[in-house]
Parts: sequence; structure tokens; C-alpha cells
Amino acid sequence: MTVEIPPAPDTPPCGPPTFASDGGWTVTRHADVRAVLLDPACRVPVAGGGPPGTLAGLRGLVSRFSDTDRHPARRALGVAALAPLDPDDLRHEAARETSAALDRAGGRVDVTGALARRVPLRVLAARLGLADPDAAVPAVAAVAAAWHPGADRTRVVAADRAVEVLSTMAPAGTPEERANRLGLLVQACDATAGLIGSAVRHGLALPPAVSTADLLAEVLRLDPPVRGTRRVVTAATRVAGRDLAVGDPVLLRFDAANRDPVVVADPDRLRPGRPDGTLTFGAGPRGCPGTRLASALAAGVVSVLRSRCRLVHDPGDHEPHPLLRVPRRIDLAVHGPRSGDGPQTGRTVEVLR
Ligand code: HEM
Repeated sequence: MTVEIPPAPDTPPCGPPTFASDGGWTVTRHADVRAVLLDPACRVPVAGGGPPGTLAGLRGLVSRFSDTDRHPARRALGVAALAPLDPDDLRHEAARETSAALDRAGGRVDVTGALARRVPLRVLAARLGLADPDAAVPAVAAVAAAWHPGADRTRVVAADRAVEVLSTMAPAGTPEERANRLGLLVQACDATAGLIGSAVRHGLALPPAVSTADLLAEVLRLDPPVRGTRRVVTAATRVAGRDLAVGDPVLLRFDAANRDPVVVADPDRLRPGRPDGTLTFGAGPRGCPGTRLASALAAGVVSVLRSRCRLVHDPGDHEPHPLLRVPRRIDLAVHGPRSGDGPQTGRTVEVLR
């Protein structure tokens, strides 16, 4: 059984790199996006830094926005903090928290507002040793809302306050260790929420025989929560026969590349179980170090929603963001047994009010 998921209307078609004088290069083919991700001449735009305890201070210390010299050591700090985490434990814990949230929900729940950020962040914050995981959730969300360049002043002010709060909760360590631990939570926040929301949108009606892992893999490909990423050219280079000049900005479109017909047959079809070729987690030295954990957290939430909920209302829109894609709101009716009531029967025990 397959469903067609057409590209979002603003997804560029898959083709050779294009250049616009006001935006630089846009790269859309699978092989070209990979080539740029692996090209040392194309670098991540670096954040300037700022005073300790501020958004700018945090951005200036995390691997995500670090220059090529500092990046490996800072990335290693984040990877070391993630190393003890077990994907099965995260999946289990996310499922348990989701079930508990549904029990409290009183028959109806907004996935984005109540679960998609809250559950993964709470589980991750607890496992990463933050002193108050509940209070960490809104603080991380506030930082994430101003994480990428271009956030408005109000969001930056809120993020500054949130960084202060988070600084009191992170386990002891050097400023770089603490920043890169917090950075994991910020990186996880919106991307994992987007994956959960889109998996609910596209997958709630699929038969239970489709595994949640296979559903998530196809949602990551067809409706990626991270639609792309940016690079800047620091040494003249060539991509697919095009000359990229020093200073040129480059936008890599995962959403287009994931549908490259050269790599994926019948690319617009959600076909659970097909070989994984998604670029949504990036690639190379900057690729996402949280891939398995993100999938585990999302699987924990989505598997419970698939077994206990049905769709009531989905306006189909997204929170405004140039590259992240988080459904704005998805309302579900909750049925199925309360957690702790024993094996699921599929019987409706909690009627929609
Ligand atoms: C569906 C969820 C996620 C998606 C789609 C995603 C995607 C990505 C992508 C594309 C990058 C690379 C950006 C670039 O090269 O410009 C990245 C980096 C990163 N991600 Fe994720 N991510 C997700 C969840 C997570 C989670 C759960 C964590 C932590 C547990 C995490 C931690 C990070 C970190 C720390 C970086 C920066 C790596 C570095 O500086 O080298 N991500 N992510």
C-alpha cells in the first residue's frame, strides 16, 4: 500500500545548481548536496559569540556554529555526552511519557502544543542530567526559536533569559562542555518535533502492519523537518560543473534532493521499507550526531499516538521558518486503554468530548 506525498509548493525542482544574485547558490540534486556537504571549501557560517549566559554566548561555543579549527573538539564534547544514552531506553521513556500525557489529556490533544517538543526534550534533558527537566523544556524551546540567524529582537530577548535559566541546570563542566550539552537539546528541539508532527500527519491512517521505524524513515525523506542547510564558499570550488566563488552563499535543499529520481524510484510515493537514502540528517563531519536518538524519541511518541489516537483536525500549515518544518497544530482524539491498564485492545475507552 502506498500513498503519494507531493512536495511542498515552495520546494525547488531537482536539477543542476542555480545562482541568484540576491541569494547565492541553491543545490538540489542528491549527489550535488552530498558533494557540498563533504567539500572542505564550503563551510558552515560561523557565529560570532557573546557574553556568557546569553544566546550569543551559547551560539559562540557550540559545535554547530564553530569554525573548522574548533569544530572537531566541540563536536566531540556533544558526542561524548550522547554516548551513554541508549536509543531503546529513550524510545521506551518517550512512549511512557506520551501514554501518561494522553491519559491526562481528557480525550483530545494537540500534538505540537502538548507532545512533539515536550516529550523528547523532557526525556533528553533528564538523560543528559539537567537538574529540572520540566523547566528545561520551555527554556530550550525559547532558545531554539532564536537559534538560527535572523530571529527577531523579542525572540532573542526571550532566548537570552532562557539561556540564563538553562545555565543553572546543566551539570558542572567547562563552559564548552556545558554549552555543547545544552546545544544537543536545542538542536533536538524543533527537528524532532517536526518529525513527530509530520509522521502523525502522514502516518496516522496507515495500517499497523507498517512499522513506525519505516514510517519515520519515509517521512524524513518526503517531508523533512529540516528542509536544508547553509554553507558559504571559502575557497573557489566546482560543483556539478559550476564555479562557486569565494564568499558565495550556498543553500542545500534536502527536501528536493530526497526526491532525486536518480537515487529514489517513484520518489513522491511513501513506500515504507524502501532503502534509506535520505539526506535529512546531513552528511560528513557536520552531519547530525543525534540521528539514532532522534528516530528513537520520535518512534516512542508516534507509536503510542498510532495505537491510541485518531485525527480530528489538521489545518495542514506549519510554524513560520525558512528551513524548519513543524506542523503548527494537529488535534487528535484519544482512545485506547490508559497506560497501565494492560494490553491494548483498540476498544474506545475514552470518548471524545
Ligand atoms: C529529526 C530530528 C533531527 C534532524 C532532522 C536533524 C538534522 C540535523 C542536520 C541536518 C544537521 C547538520 C546541519 C549542517 O550540516 O549544516 C544536524 C546537526 C546537529 N544535530 Fe541534528 N537533527 C535532528 C535531531 C537531533 C537530535 C535529537 C540531536 C541530539 C540528541 C541532534 C544534535 C545535533 C547536533 C549537536 C548537531 C551539530 C553537529 C556538529 O556541530 O557537527 N540532532 N542535525
